[in-house]
Amino acid sequence: MVSIIPSILVNDAEQFRARLRLLEQNHVPTVQLDVADRTFVSAATYADPDYLDTLQPRVFFEVHLMTTVTTETLKRWQRPWVKKIIVHLEASPEPGRLLQEIIDLKKKTGLALNPETPVENAKPFLHLTDTLLVMGVTPGRGGQTLLPDTVARVRQARNLHPHGNVEVDGGVNAATIETLATAGANLFIVGSALKEINFSIIYNQLTTIANAAFKKNQAN
Ligand code: DX5
Repeated sequence: MVSIIPSILVNDAEQFRARLRLLEQNHVPTVQLDVADRTFVSAATYADPDYLDTLQPRVFFEVHLMTTVTTETLKRWQRPWVKKIIVHLEASPEPGRLLQEIIDLKKKTGLALNPETPVENAKPFLHLTDTLLVMGVTPGRGGQTLLPDTVARVRQARNLHPHGNVEVDGGVNAATIETLATAGANLFIVGSALKEINFSIIYNQLTTIANAAFKKNQAN
């Protein structure tokens, strides 16, 4: 199943509320929340689960932890509107233990790979991973250009994880999504290409392109 998942990567509560309400108004089912606190990437984002509770979100979140992760971190995100928690392979000495803890919290799991991490390094953890996330950019900031070797990395991820989700995060837009879907990605995180102006037109355009390319790839 192909999905376009808009991201929320913001600096304060007001930006958060505005982005969330835009996504709710456009009936987006799933949103990616980017969480960064300078412990793993140089950036910091606004992402407060207690504030999010007060907004009573009408979407489901996958939480992308671009942070070092402890058991306490995971418990902080055990909320009814969180359906998936994504951790970075590089952010913990024991990614397998973190993925199992997420499973024990009854959440779906995602394992994210930085651009410099060989895709095969995910192999020992795939049995614990619903979604293998290939970063298309250096994590932490939106609006970057897709790194050129991302398409080959997506192909490797699909070969490694043939029946799971392969997600691309960073640099996804109308110019890159067809190649990424043809390479085997089925989940697409989109930030700067999905702004308020023409949101639904672009969202539908990206969905159509990705569906056609992914199905064509599956047929081959
Ligand atoms: C980058 C974040 C992405 C970001 C995507 O570190 O993980 O989710 O929001 O932004 P664009 O689509 O602008 O590359």
